[in-house]
Amino acid sequence: MKFSKVEPAYTSKEGCRLVWTGDNEDDSDIVILNKNELDSLVELLKRDVSGTIHLEDLSSSIMVNSDVTQFILQNHPQLEANTFDLQKKVLEFAKIPHQPLYVHISSKEFYPSVWIRKEETENQAKFSPKKTSTPPSLLQIILSTKPEKTKDKPLETDVFRIFSSRRSTRKFDKKKIEDWKIDKILAAADTAPTAGNFQGLKIFYVKNKNTKEALVEAANKQPYVNAPLVLVFCMDSSRVKLKFPQEILEKFSLQDATLAAAYSQIAASGLGLSSIWIGMFDEKKVQTILGTELRPTSILCIGYPDKKRPPKSRRKLKELIEVIE
Ligand SMILES: Cc1cc2nc3c(=O)[nH]c(=O)nc-3n(C[C@H](O)[C@H](O)[C@H](O)COP(=O)(O)O)c2cc1C
Repeated sequence: MKFSKVEPAYTSKEGCRLVWTGDNEDDSDIVILNKNELDSLVELLKRDVSGTIHLEDLSSSIMVNSDVTQFILQNHPQLEANTFDLQKKVLEFAKIPHQPLYVHISSKEFYPSVWIRKEETENQAKFSPKKTSTPPSLLQIILSTKPEKTKDKPLETDVFRIFSSRRSTRKFDKKKIEDWKIDKILAAADTAPTAGNFQGLKIFYVKNKNTKEALVEAANKQPYVNAPLVLVFCMDSSRVKLKFPQEILEKFSLQDATLAAAYSQIAASGLGLSSIWIGMFDEKKVQTILGTELRPTSILCIGYPDKKRPPKSRRKLKELIEVIE
């Protein structure tokens, strides 16, 4: 497995996720650093020095050596990254200008040495930890956290009950949605499958009041678009790095964005919230409002319903399904 990238943390602007990827897309590992841990790592890397960072769980640490950085993690096999590669990616992420030292002379950890660093070394493959289990990602943490103390009725966790009781709402209560619920709704979108796992979508989380009002206008003046939580799901086919015609990539990203919105909608229902899926809007106007060229596919408006409504009826299942024998 090879260290591949540094990503922002999901919900906070601070800290980061360090990502390792293997030969196939199912093979990956993640180390999540909080702000202090990231700051300490940046400090060592920007000064081109070795050192150890003790992580806040008190038993994990990062040993930055001049050639290899080792991630010694509690209850997890050790991970390694080429220090040069890690330095480049972490400092880029932290927006710290840095001139790489291609010729490195140092006392090294065990014996003095001089060597020439290469940007992408093939022998990174030798730094492959044997993986037996994966530490929880931020996504898993968000999804598995218990609800904070709430006066609401207990949350629904049976997915079939959620499906069978979900009902759209066009009248929302003014009650604010708790941040932890928003985290879970966003994280749920990120669990949806995407074509090739390229995540060919982007979600705009609209907090701004004026932007919400502009979206009402762009959505045929549907007033409920101005909901407590407004998420605009957009296609991003440029992320789908598959060798298929552009129209297929567009189709994939349309499906990626739609599925992610559906996962968020179901998550909202499970959290005692309700939603309305908006498909009727002027794409160009939405793009201008959001300042993006990405095509919006749906606006998901979420909030506490003003009152509980029963689910709508559907046609008979046997009319929906044609069995091919
Ligand atoms: C693709 C799609 C587009 C939709 N567009 C709108 C819309 O623009 N405005 C609206 O009020 N409801 C819209 N809806 C919500 C549907 O009207 C609603 O889901 C449907 O009546 C079934 O009700 P239920 O969600 O309570 O089962 C849309 C739903 C889907 C799936």
